[in-house]
Amino acid sequence: MKIAIAGTGYVGLVTGVVLAHLGHEIICMDIDADKIEKLKKGICPIFEPGLPELMAENASRLTFTTDYSAAYSDADAIFIAVGTPEKMDGSANLSYVFAVAGQIAESAKRDCIVVVKSTVPIGTNDKVEQYIKKHLKHDVNIEVVSNPEFLSQGTAVRDMLHGSRIVVGAESEEARKAMAEIYKGMNQPIVFTNRRSAEMIKYASNDFLALKISFINEIANLCEVLGADVEDVARGMGMDPRIGDKFLKAGIGYGGSCFPKDTKALHWLGNYHDHELKTIKAAIEVNENQKLRLIKKARKYYDTFEGLAIAVLGLTFKPGTDDLREAPSLTIVPILLDDGAIVKAYDPCGMERFKQKVNGSIMYCGTPEEALKDADICFILTEWPQITSLKPEVFLSMKRPIILDGRNCYKLEDMEGHDLVYESIGRRV
Ligand code: UGA
Repeated sequence: MKIAIAGTGYVGLVTGVVLAHLGHEIICMDIDADKIEKLKKGICPIFEPGLPELMAENASRLTFTTDYSAAYSDADAIFIAVGTPEKMDGSANLSYVFAVAGQIAESAKRDCIVVVKSTVPIGTNDKVEQYIKKHLKHDVNIEVVSNPEFLSQGTAVRDMLHGSRIVVGAESEEARKAMAEIYKGMNQPIVFTNRRSAEMIKYASNDFLALKISFINEIANLCEVLGADVEDVARGMGMDPRIGDKFLKAGIGYGGSCFPKDTKALHWLGNYHDHELKTIKAAIEVNENQKLRLIKKARKYYDTFEGLAIAVLGLTFKPGTDDLREAPSLTIVPILLDDGAIVKAYDPCGMERFKQKVNGSIMYCGTPEEALKDADICFILTEWPQITSLKPEVFLSMKRPIILDGRNCYKLEDMEGHDLVYESIGRRV
């Protein structure tokens, strides 16, 4: 099939490349000319393991353009995979989605389906369809289909190729058939439902995962007070298949471009319809506080951070990505700097972006060892393998080896017997 993809962010590009891999002819469209130039040269503009290789393998079925009319006029399906960032009030900004809808209405010259991959509030697909139909320039049939994505950054290619399900919200048999045709060759169950339910599946899934994380983080904080070990607690809980063992890793809170935004957007939507989602509200609040957890721990050792050299290991919101959006580092480092600390930061991928976002006394270090040398305290914010593989002796080069580990990177027994202070989340000090 001939498929156009609007947006070459990590969702759009991964979708395009994987659909090319399935044998479809793909044209990716983006308004960012630099990005498109890179893509035309075969350069992958985002950090996503496995994507450059798959892109190269399927290059003959992939084209890239900034010309929306060339992309949309002749497609069997047009995927919308543009961002839906958070607005000031927590609701989702749909202006990019509707901008694409307008371009489709202007350019589509044959019947096609418009597949919304972007995460959009419940009811948006209906509005997008109405909008396109109202503004159509040519006499064609268009149907909008909701097809939310469940990719995680860092494992996006694997997630799409081997996901747990494909969700399709469609209102007609023809649209369902077209979607089945698009995903033919994928060994995944397809959940067919209506558009609104598909939109809700996406929000409810992300918000439930966020809820699970906030829940285990609260339990972890109580474990510390009561002398229990959250890792054992999570293991014991997770063996019950009704609970499941995933997303029960305690830490300093969830970040990224999805959970923070999607919890706020669904909470906003609930309030808008006079149905406050109290569990989601709690998950958001717990997460905000959890980001400050290591700062609170550090205050036990120092009243002020003024003049201290603080090693910060890990800046990205999780390993395997250079993305900093809503990363705990963006909350924690400015607090340290504001208090007069000198931050010695290390991250294998996120330092360039961090430089653009945060100003102040930050020394960027090429290795964890360099960051730790002579530091007065160390904060661990992301569980990169380069950090989890550090041996306890490495920390002994610090002026005062106090390690506050926000991601439970090391076994407690491995950290014992060395002349260092090691505190993590939900485990004995
Ligand atoms: C998330 C979802 O996992 C995907 O299914 C979804 O498609 C995606 O959002 C999206 O809506 O686009 P992502 O944000 O890439 O994916 O990252 P996750 O791996 O889910 O991690 C999110 C945050 O939760 C990270 O900060 C991570 O450190 C934290 N986390 C995750 C925990 O603190 N504990 C856990 O047990 C798991």
